[in-house]
Amino acid sequence: MRTEAPVAVQLSDYTAYPFEIEQVDLRFDLHPDATLVRADLKIRRTGAADAALELDGEALELKSIAIDGAPLPESAYELTESGLTLQDVPNAFTLVTEVEIAPSKNTALSGLYMSGGRFCTQCEAIGFRRITFYPDRPDVMSRFTVRMTADKETYPILLSNGTPGETGDVDDGRHFAVWDDPHKKPAYLFALCAGDYDVYRDQFTTMSGKVIDLAVHVDKGDADRAAWAMDSLKRSMKWDEETYGREYDLGVFNIVAVRDFNFGAMENKGLNIFNSAYVLADEASATDADFEAIESIVAHEYFHNWTGNRITCRDWFQLCLKEGLTVFRDQNFSADMRSRPVQRIKDVIRLRARQFAEDAGPLAHSVRPETYGAIDNLYTATVYEKGAEVIGMLRRILGEETYRKGMDLYFDRHDGQAVTIEDFYACFEEVSGDDFTQFRLWYSQAGTPEVSVEESWNPETREVAVTLKQRVPATPGQTNKKPMLIPMEMALIDDEGNMAEWITLFEDEELTLTFDLPEGSERPLVSINRDFTAPIRLKRNLDRETQLAMIRLETDPFNQWDAVQALAKQEILALSEGSQAEPDDALVDAIAAAVTGASDDPAFAALLARLPDVNELFLERQPADPVALDAARKKLQAALYGKLRQFADSVLGESSTQAYDPGAEQAGERALRTALIGLLAASGADEAGDRLLSLYKAATNMTEKLAALRGLAGLDGEARETALADFEAEWTSNPLVMDKWFGVQAGTGDAATIEKLAAHSAFDLRNPNRVRSVAAAFAMQNLAGFHAPDGSGYRVVEDIILKADKVNPALGARLLTAFEQWRSLEPKAKAEAEACLRRLQAADLSKNSADIVSRALG
Ligand code: PHE
Ligand code: ZN
Repeated sequence: MRTEAPVAVQLSDYTAYPFEIEQVDLRFDLHPDATLVRADLKIRRTGAADAALELDGEALELKSIAIDGAPLPESAYELTESGLTLQDVPNAFTLVTEVEIAPSKNTALSGLYMSGGRFCTQCEAIGFRRITFYPDRPDVMSRFTVRMTADKETYPILLSNGTPGETGDVDDGRHFAVWDDPHKKPAYLFALCAGDYDVYRDQFTTMSGKVIDLAVHVDKGDADRAAWAMDSLKRSMKWDEETYGREYDLGVFNIVAVRDFNFGAMENKGLNIFNSAYVLADEASATDADFEAIESIVAHEYFHNWTGNRITCRDWFQLCLKEGLTVFRDQNFSADMRSRPVQRIKDVIRLRARQFAEDAGPLAHSVRPETYGAIDNLYTATVYEKGAEVIGMLRRILGEETYRKGMDLYFDRHDGQAVTIEDFYACFEEVSGDDFTQFRLWYSQAGTPEVSVEESWNPETREVAVTLKQRVPATPGQTNKKPMLIPMEMALIDDEGNMAEWITLFEDEELTLTFDLPEGSERPLVSINRDFTAPIRLKRNLDRETQLAMIRLETDPFNQWDAVQALAKQEILALSEGSQAEPDDALVDAIAAAVTGASDDPAFAALLARLPDVNELFLERQPADPVALDAARKKLQAALYGKLRQFADSVLGESSTQAYDPGAEQAGERALRTALIGLLAASGADEAGDRLLSLYKAATNMTEKLAALRGLAGLDGEARETALADFEAEWTSNPLVMDKWFGVQAGTGDAATIEKLAAHSAFDLRNPNRVRSVAAAFAMQNLAGFHAPDGSGYRVVEDIILKADKVNPALGARLLTAFEQWRSLEPKAKAEAEACLRRLQAADLSKNSADIVSRALG
């Protein structure tokens, strides 16, 4: 059966809901196979007198329905696949419905489902309609109370949003608990958890002296591994008070870790539910990247309490209102916890690899889209990461103080409301007196702006001229673009490192800046888009000498790093195209010198030693040949290792005697070590296998152990098999660590490897982390394997997608986005990718997946 692409929802169609839901009382009688949900909705008409009451509902079995105590005959309502409509309802009334649902059969992980034998929920974006009949849209905000009943022995802990109330025993070994949330909220922030957990507890005293009970709920035996998440939570609470003046607003804050989860985590009011990958960590089982991710995701979800929960989105087109802003907040939190320049570089690597790719392909959409087919597919790098960049530009334009004033006004004016991007900008226009009309094109125009730069220097007049030209590429549905307002930090730097710095607001198609330098001046270095002020692609034709000078003289750490990246990119491209057989010695020397020169800041040195990967090179040259790019990258890595061999020996030879600490300082040292381990693995050196195996065996933390294992996974031979077998035997009962075991193989192997991994007894289509550790690690991080010109990579992923999509549409659709770059591929891979997409289009896909496939082919 062929799947039709879903009907699109339009921003311009927005109309307010004609009723207010003043109070929601939910009663859950929890049983895995048949849970009874009773909802008492206190409703009041706010719109037209003849407006029907429309409620969303999906996969619900209606048991009873009554208005003000009187059961309704079937003729009084219309029941469909997607909801319930009541034509003639009073102006104020109470509607009571009872429905039955089956959590144990819910593999889509949206609504109420079971994970690890416990109940949990996921309601964003439209999961609440799978729990009860309700206006499942974010602009309907209400007060919720919840009463749950469940078997006491199996589910001793019963949690929901807000404040805990009455508890007690009922018949048949069951018990109940009541929760009351005093804050009005949209249904997508509803949550419930029931089960047996180990609990890691602590307290936080807020700036006004309120003591908050904090708890992280995890699998039995995992409590100690929740310490870092708790520590991150307390630091987040403090940071939001200090940085934004925001205090927590309930007496309790609960986090629950679940094994089966579609995304990273969810900001339900007072009850955040997390993918366990972003809660559990200790030295032996988690890498520094895991610790970092936990810190930032805990912060992200916590920060949503104000940016998302207290003030929410009017409709899902406004998703960036909460997500872009909250990512911006968590990135700054991480920068304050660690190193600001290192954080900035990591954020930009991610943006370039994922968001720039999205912006350049068939799935491109603006930060605030005007239409969507399936809402789950709107949780994109563009909405999140580019959305965060836009807030960063806003702050840069306003300055820190005015930005904060605007945020204060936003919190003050819109607390308790569901609002739009326009409402948000009105606050900044008011405090600054500026007009952000042109700036807001960042929300409506898709595509990454390209800024080309031409420079000239007149030695007689000592005049520097810099001409900037901008162009926003065409994207689906948007062919003609207007010039954007692009803020760019710039500087002129002389060869002693002295400089003049300013910010240019580049708002026309073209701009020329000229500077007259004093007598005796030499040609200065022009530093542009410092700190990556704007999310643009800078096109600059600099000669090699200037590029090398930039590495030496740049005073902005981002641009210094990027100068090294630019050289490495050019070199990899030249090697991949065969215009050059071997890496240029002087260039490799320069990169090596930059690495060793930064060794007093090992985290930064590690970033310099990390060459741009195929994801970042993909857009540089069309058509792209991932296989050739990967081979060229390895060649350059090998050459770099050759230059750094002694340095690597000494760095890797030192073994730390300090007790393990996940903080920035030690993590930086380990980052350098792992970067060098990566180079060693790519070096092709005879002794690489043995060295890696001994590093693997000697490693006392997961960061280095995994780096060695990843290196080994990419080699052939006995050392590889020994290490993989050893790792599997040691960690077979820890699913998160086993995800890493699957991931390193998928990240380095070919289609045959994937086939083997998918046939492994521990491969589980119902667990998104596991599916991603194989399919996404391959299709999104191992582009040379996935885009194999014979199509083998596509076929093996296609197979997994078809199965995964049946179980979990959100997961299937997410994996499909790996195909988004197919049009930019070299002809062989391109033809295979297209054939695969056509087969998928003809298959019976979920609505979510059909949406991606039709847009990808579109
Ligand atoms: N709102 C979540 C976040 O950004 C993401 C999410 C979306 C989680 C949809 C689950 C489902 O933190
Ligand atoms: Zn979020």
